[in-house]
Amino acid sequence: MQTKTLFSSLLTVVFLAGFTGCKPSTDSSDTPGAARYTIGMSQCNLGEPWRVQMNADVKAAADQHPELKVIFKDAQNDTLKQRAHVEEFVSAKVDLILISPKEAAPLTEPVAKAMAAGIPVIVLDRALLGDQFTCFIGADNVKIGRAAGEWIRQTLGGKGKVVELKGLMTSVPGQDRHQGFRQGIAGSQIEIIFEADMKWLEPEARKEMESALARFDQIDLVYAHNDPGAHGAYLAAQATAREKQMKFVGIDALPHEGVAYVKKGILDATFQYPTGGAEAVATALKILRGESVPKKIVLGSRVFDKANVEQGGRELP
Ligand code: FRU
Repeated sequence: MQTKTLFSSLLTVVFLAGFTGCKPSTDSSDTPGAARYTIGMSQCNLGEPWRVQMNADVKAAADQHPELKVIFKDAQNDTLKQRAHVEEFVSAKVDLILISPKEAAPLTEPVAKAMAAGIPVIVLDRALLGDQFTCFIGADNVKIGRAAGEWIRQTLGGKGKVVELKGLMTSVPGQDRHQGFRQGIAGSQIEIIFEADMKWLEPEARKEMESALARFDQIDLVYAHNDPGAHGAYLAAQATAREKQMKFVGIDALPHEGVAYVKKGILDATFQYPTGGAEAVATALKILRGESVPKKIVLGSRVFDKANVEQGGRELP
């Protein structure tokens, strides 16, 4: 009986916390009241180091501007939750929304509604459908995928058996990194013997790689659409003592993740995918001050491999 009472009070607490929305938000401003503009930042998840870095970059840039207050919401990789977060920002009448959406199609409509309500929206990293947003900021994923394909083609001498572990294919970076990669290897004798959607997640990549290893005796290289994916594949190969028989290539190149893996010899190459956090805050300030901004801001990228990692990588042309 007592357990039941405790359980129902707990439920009430959880319900109220959810209802008041007190948990998922964190506030970047230490001096509430000083800020002139409130920015709502909707992050699709904080389970991946790259997204933690993006929020840290947004916070560091916003902290330089006392007139800005940023409210962060983490959708925990749940599209419906992220839709609700955008709607909450609209109801709260924030001055501007930053969003790094999980998936393109389901988040297009709530962002369009925010725009219709007169709230400017900056979309970061993963694109939406159509043009109902103020500005998109991100690197060119087709170009990065193509550069990865060309690097792989050159490193393998134009032939070999490759596994492709794809990012979430309902997100635009996954589609673009796939398309660019196929362009980069087109006309070579590189064969994609196995491909799977690992949804950007290291444990999924590891699981898919276990299937690939079970099916194929020879794998020359794994191309994963992000570094957690490449690392998951490496761990699967290492568990069967086959990691030295193949190369691993990823994307993101965070200093403490992908670049560190290249330095340690775990990955053979990683391609930088900048978070755009600082650029987002600079662009937000312009919009809030009534200045015009471009519809699209394309960020550059670098490749880090064994030959150049100690020199800080090489910029992609
Ligand atoms: C993090 C992440 C990154 C990747 C980006 C693509 O969620 O998977 O690893 O580069 O998203 O949107």
